[in-house]
Amino acid sequence: MGKAGQSRYAQVYARAMNDPEGFWGEAARAIDWIKPPTKIFDKNAGVYGRWFVDGTCNTCWNTLDRHVDAGRGQQAALIYDSPVTGTKKSFSYAELLDEVRTLAAVLRDFGVAKGDRVILYMPMVPEAVFAMLACARIGAIHSVVFGGFAAKELATRIDDASPKLILSAACGIEPGRVVKYKPLLDEAIRLASAKPEACLILQRPQVTAVLTHGRDYDWGSLRDAARAAGKTADCVEVAATDPLYILYTSGTTGRPKGVVRDNGGHMVALKWSMHGLYGIEPGEIFWCASDVGWVVGHSYIVYAPLLHGCTTILYEGKPVGTPDAGAFWRVIAEHGAVAMFTAPTAFRAIKKEDPQGKFLAQYDLSKFRTLFLAGERADPDTLKWAEALLHVPVIDHWWQTETGWCIAGNPMGLGMLPVKHGSPTVPMPGYDVRIVDESNREVPVNQMGSIVIKLPLPPACLPTLWQQDDRFRESYTTEFPGYYKTADAGFKDSDGYLYIMGRTDDIINVAGHRLSTGGMEEVLSSHPDVAECAVIGIKDELKGEVPCGFVVLKSGVTRPPTDIEKEIVALVREHIGPVAAFKLAITVNRLPKTRSGKILRGTMKKIADGDTWAMPATIDDPGVLDEIGVALKGKGVGA
Ligand code: COA
Ligand code: AMP
Repeated sequence: MGKAGQSRYAQVYARAMNDPEGFWGEAARAIDWIKPPTKIFDKNAGVYGRWFVDGTCNTCWNTLDRHVDAGRGQQAALIYDSPVTGTKKSFSYAELLDEVRTLAAVLRDFGVAKGDRVILYMPMVPEAVFAMLACARIGAIHSVVFGGFAAKELATRIDDASPKLILSAACGIEPGRVVKYKPLLDEAIRLASAKPEACLILQRPQVTAVLTHGRDYDWGSLRDAARAAGKTADCVEVAATDPLYILYTSGTTGRPKGVVRDNGGHMVALKWSMHGLYGIEPGEIFWCASDVGWVVGHSYIVYAPLLHGCTTILYEGKPVGTPDAGAFWRVIAEHGAVAMFTAPTAFRAIKKEDPQGKFLAQYDLSKFRTLFLAGERADPDTLKWAEALLHVPVIDHWWQTETGWCIAGNPMGLGMLPVKHGSPTVPMPGYDVRIVDESNREVPVNQMGSIVIKLPLPPACLPTLWQQDDRFRESYTTEFPGYYKTADAGFKDSDGYLYIMGRTDDIINVAGHRLSTGGMEEVLSSHPDVAECAVIGIKDELKGEVPCGFVVLKSGVTRPPTDIEKEIVALVREHIGPVAAFKLAITVNRLPKTRSGKILRGTMKKIADGDTWAMPATIDDPGVLDEIGVALKGKGVGA
């Protein structure tokens, strides 16, 4: 374990605080610019200022061409390891560049140009990475939609982004189930008012999708034809502040937020993080076991490792069941990964199947140096279990889709700080993190409060929401003027370590996936027999939290409540997707409310979790809480 005095962290953090332009200007030198920025930060641009305003660049160039030019052409850039299909494939930097510039030419032939949006609804296959980079190459803005979302969620994103093209595949593969994407895509396009001009469909050996005449094109044939014709597309010059991508994330309603990521700041911060935070050298093998549909996948499967000249691993599988709880150790050993990054839930799944870690004995993990966890609170039990098993540092770090990279972590490249279980350690350079009360006043150490970040946010963080500056202001900068509201609550200890304890809004974190209970309530309310409802996240040993929905039926409904509960579970799966993991609907006679009619979700959660709770002083009818307890017990939930 590191010693605080031996780490350069304090010095580097102080430099970034005292001279942000000097610090980030220096970090920007690690990037190839077409026109280097002369102004590092312009506080008058954008909603709260913009980074590298007059610089121009191309992100794809920095991930591929520059490395080929520098002699990394033969080094593996991308290793595709897919236990669910029994496939392994490696692409060198030269091969990856070849694929990307060919696909970029295909996109260009469809008329896709700088600033156009392209939606990717893709499983974890190399073509998903090719597509992201091909968009970046021609200045198009990609928006990747996670494969576990249903047609309706995809439709909402199509309407918001109005893409020129959609790139998809015939199917995704879940253990024991092939998920056909084409019917979901067709339904989404039917539901959306913004229609794409065309769709490129990647056929897979498991499923051949039927293409819609005049709209759908066979991805493989177009690629082969472009290759045969020697078509390639060059990198297009974009402003550092131009969007690289939009990534939708759950907001407090059913309408997702389109987080915008720029090109310049994103490259600078991600490149810095590969060494400063993750302690990785160019040429090393880095594995992030997330999905390209999430921000962690964008940043650490695709962009950061390639910006840094590393080999990245794209894993189409699960921590358990593909085929067993030794899958992660196999991938690390077989490809020589020096570090891996995943969600705590994945380790809880392995721990549950193989508590003794017996599978590990079969594999040589001698190159493996660090395990990074993020996406949800890392419970100390899982952390300690992983440390004892792997004998390497296990580093929790705190993130949001909005920030694009870690807010607080343990900077391995600057010298590791002592680990405190339950804390993701300290703010990264550029993040001035404060704990405040409702009046935006800082609270003393060890006292819980709202976690806010003093504006401006560092490079890579969202400058705004896609075409919604006002929603950005309202969601993030209005409640605590001068600060970005993280919507997380927590505290700082006397060493400046942060503790992230939970959300202050309706977001829950299910197996590392961010979901809005408000969005689920909208679905429940749409059931014709439901009068009112409340969805809460309740504790789950494996997934951290799972949703639980309470419904009050309309008077006069005589159908058996269990039938309606089943329909509600199916409705959430159909409208939001299997990723919501919504399996528990409970019918009750009434919901507990305050005298002013506010549903007491917090108290309901405490009852469901078996935590101690106090009767809220403002409750309208205390008897209702007992009814909730009884209803939960009836379903085997709660103490
Ligand atoms: N496409 C279609 N369906 C998907 C999907 C995808 N890309 N990803 C998940 N699903 C489905 C699952 O098949 C499951 O369906 P089911 O209800 O029919 O079983 C449902 O969505 C819930 O999935 P998940 O929450 O992932 O649970 P799981 O039981 O399949 O697996 C874990 C549990 C812990 C193994 C798994 O959640 C995991 O590996 N999590 C890591 C999380 C992660 O990488 N987060 C990224 C942020 S860092
Ligand atoms: P997402 O936008 O999907 O990355 O989810 C972001 C949210 O996940 C944060 O606001 C936190 O609530 C939670 N989260 C992410 N990482 C951590 C962590 N290391 N510890 C605690 N919570 C985390």
